Amino acid sequence: MEGVPGTAMPTWRLSLTGDTVWKIISYERTFVDGVVRVVPGDFSDSEAEEFGKKGITSPIQQDESNFTEGGKLFNLYCAQCHGADGHGDGPAASYIRPEPANFTETSNDFTMQGQWFWKVSEGVETTNMPPWKYVLPEDERWKAIYYIQNNFSAPGVFDAKWRS
Ligand code: HEC
Repeated sequence: MEGVPGTAMPTWRLSLTGDTVWKIISYERTFVDGVVRVVPGDFSDSEAEEFGKKGITSPIQQDESNFTEGGKLFNLYCAQCHGADGHGDGPAASYIRPEPANFTETSNDFTMQGQWFWKVSEGVETTNMPPWKYVLPEDERWKAIYYIQNNFSAPGVFDAKWRS
């Protein structure tokens, strides 16, 4: 509000209201803290869990062509955050908090398919994970999930757990 005497930082009190300055500050804080939290952080987890309990499984064919297509979608839309190798360390990840999920840690759990579909569709509230339902049709969301689980889970785990 008062500026910093002896520097180029102006006295914003003369042109901005306190309310406006607080809004700018809360935006600036997102550079450090990540997105502003407007609802409790566990909101998406519980919503996704409820959805997951319905026992939803992937409707797409688990075959090579869907795997290849899923990989293309992942590299186009997801890898900038989650990393081409699924480690959650893509080029955009350096300024994103909480950090994008590391799929080499989480993609082994195939009972989570419904939860994942919900999160990919609706986004993860209070994080930078976007709601993909506005961008990708359902089958493409499932293909990206298929690619993630088949590609980043420990070798053999996908076949053993899902294909049997
Ligand atoms: C702008 C960055 C960004 C992009 C782009 C992005 N994600 Fe995410 N993703 C995140 C963040 C951040 C989280 C939340 C991590 C957390 O909950 O702590 C997340 C979480 C997830 C989760 C939940 C993982 C778990 O273990 O619960 C899935 C699944 C997921 N993303 C899939 C995708 C898919 C598929 C795409 C592309 C269609 C995608 N993401 C694109 C940032 C991103």
